[in-house]
Amino acid sequence: MNANFDALKLVQRVDIDEVVANSFKDYHVKGFDYLCMRRSPTETYKLYFFNGDVTRLPEVVNPHDHRYDFRTWTICGASENVWFDRDPKGERFERFEYRTKLNGGNGFSWAGTDYLKETLRGRFRPGDRYDMRAEDFHTIRIAENETVLMLLQKEDVVPVDKPTLTFTREKEPPSLDGLYSRFTADEVVKILSNFEERVGQGFRFHASMELVA
Ligand SMILES: [Fe+2]
Repeated sequence: MNANFDALKLVQRVDIDEVVANSFKDYHVKGFDYLCMRRSPTETYKLYFFNGDVTRLPEVVNPHDHRYDFRTWTICGASENVWFDRDPKGERFERFEYRTKLNGGNGFSWAGTDYLKETLRGRFRPGDRYDMRAEDFHTIRIAENETVLMLLQKEDVVPVDKPTLTFTREKEPPSLDGLYSRFTADEVVKILSNFEERVGQGFRFHASMELVA
């Protein structure tokens, strides 16, 4: 597990109020918690805890691109990343443009059909990492229960008024019906304490709300 500690050092110091302000529990699906550990215009660190039914997560199941380049580490468990490319010989998908409601957008709107083909599939164990460009299409598959991923999100390369893309096999847009809600500071501390216990020695969670190596 030691390889993970190098990655986790990037989020050792957390401001608990900032985490609470930018994180969601039961994010789209019960049991999927998302903690935003640190945030800036150029580097945002996120931890994703998958404990629920991940097959219901729209951004896991449906190929999509992003607003930013990013790096993903598997910290616990196992995950797969699946890359897709447009290919006339591929599978037919419905293309939806996504404008986030957080920026005043109206969510998903249908924009046409595309043919996508799986081009690469990687399996990632604790300590493994991979990089993606904003324009890459991917899905992820959570291959073990209680998988934890860490993400480093770089600065936006797609302007906020431009949509990102999500591809579905059905005509309906992905459901964003929210079970999701905000954490309390105590809940965040509990998740991080459990997490610390799980990844073993080397981290300590202090009353000052800092993880210290
Ligand atoms: Fe993604």
